Amino acid sequence: MSTSPHPGADPKPLLFALYEQASVGCGGAPSLWTHPADERLGINSLSYWSSLARIADQANLDMLFFADVLGFYDGYGGTADAALKWAVEAPANDPLMIIPALAAVTENLAFGVTVSTSYEHPFTHARRFSTLDHLSNGRVGWNIVTSYLNSAARNFGLEQMIKHNDRYERAEEFLDVVYKLWEGSWAQDAVVADKSRQLYAQGERVRPINHVGEHYRVAGPHLSSPSPQRTPLLIQAGWSGRGREFAAKHAELIFIAKSNPLEIRQGLDEIWAQAQARGRQADDVKSLTVLRIVTAKTEIEAQRKYEQLQSNYHLQAQLVSYAGDTGIDISRYADNEPLATHTEGLTSYMMRPDGSGKPLTAGDVKQRFASVTRGTDLILVGTPEQVAQRIEVHAAISGTSGYMINPLISPGSLEDFVELVIPALQKRGLYRTQPQSGTLRSRLRNDGSSYLPASAHGASFRFA
Ligand SMILES: Cc1cc2nc3c(=O)[nH]c(=O)nc-3n(C[C@H](O)[C@H](O)[C@H](O)COP(=O)(O)O)c2cc1C
Repeated sequence: MSTSPHPGADPKPLLFALYEQASVGCGGAPSLWTHPADERLGINSLSYWSSLARIADQANLDMLFFADVLGFYDGYGGTADAALKWAVEAPANDPLMIIPALAAVTENLAFGVTVSTSYEHPFTHARRFSTLDHLSNGRVGWNIVTSYLNSAARNFGLEQMIKHNDRYERAEEFLDVVYKLWEGSWAQDAVVADKSRQLYAQGERVRPINHVGEHYRVAGPHLSSPSPQRTPLLIQAGWSGRGREFAAKHAELIFIAKSNPLEIRQGLDEIWAQAQARGRQADDVKSLTVLRIVTAKTEIEAQRKYEQLQSNYHLQAQLVSYAGDTGIDISRYADNEPLATHTEGLTSYMMRPDGSGKPLTAGDVKQRFASVTRGTDLILVGTPEQVAQRIEVHAAISGTSGYMINPLISPGSLEDFVELVIPALQKRGLYRTQPQSGTLRSRLRNDGSSYLPASAHGASFRFA
């Protein structure tokens, strides 16, 4: 029996987010910043981001999402030269700094921001997100990642990255600390803010957390007063077995980078079942699947667009990406040589053998990334009607709650989505026609609450 939260339900609006990175080369097809129509060279300016955010806000997108890395992609050929040449996830500005400015120029758009539990400190992290949650009126979500680059580890005093499953153990403790700060440090009635009584907050209603664990010792109290959501909406990206276990415990929204709808369905069923075993509802765990779109009014025009993208798409940039994600340096392998099958990096980005039992070779990976319409993500090329129809079928089979639009070029891909695809989705009832207001969590939850539900692990840390 499927554990889907919407078995056989009529189509209802899907969620749509825009994937971004404060880098010139955005994850997915990083070399496309070289396309004549691309404006990503503007990432150092606020006007680039505010105009993108305004388009997304006016189109009622659910979220502007920022991925992030803390080191360069230096796994290809042993240096960062190729990553810098192609701007593969480089340069890497701090996305958190961009959010308040975008919150100021948008009405309803929500923001998801990636922060790594392996390198940040939970005390400062909790304070930053409380501040963001206040400033954005609860329009913020945290994408919890454990990170995967050795170059990032070296930037934080380690020789190499912490091992895959150990990173998740550290993440568990990180989450405990931030839950204690967000949920347990200030009572709901702690802030009085009464000028006549000269009383801002009641000291006995604000308490230290005195956390002592394997990785962190944090006294508290939390420095910020309770924000609209307290705990920001918890997003998670990681599809390994350990990653799914983590998602089932903590995540309210999962970020998936898989294309096969049956594979997605299987993973989601597993996560939903694990979440239910923890006393959560399957519907408490929503998901967004990465989607790239090449579309135009006619098939011929869409094909022409694809060809122009292809002429600005470069395999070497993809191989730099692959090396960074998985730790497998294709430049060191002959085309017919089998690749390593183990990584401490992003296990879910490893390409699996094709089912023939033969191990993957470097040649297979090159073949896989030979064209802008290939790779490992879901990519749809066609007229808006064709794209909308394929989204409908994919969502019905996969059970995904929505899609993370990964722009091939910016802002062109977003503009195409808004002008061409949204009307086609709306005809099918798959895209909302009204803006959504309120906190990000309240929009995603059936009960409309801005706070974690009582069944969430984080709720167990509440001020009694
Ligand atoms: C779809 C997806 C997106 C991710 N985005 C990021 C990111 O922006 N920054 C980052 O440091 N890690 C990112 N990660 C990886 C996480 O760091 C993850 O905790 C870790 O590598 C383990 O992933 P795994 O459980 O899939 O093996 C992402 C993972 C997935 C599956």
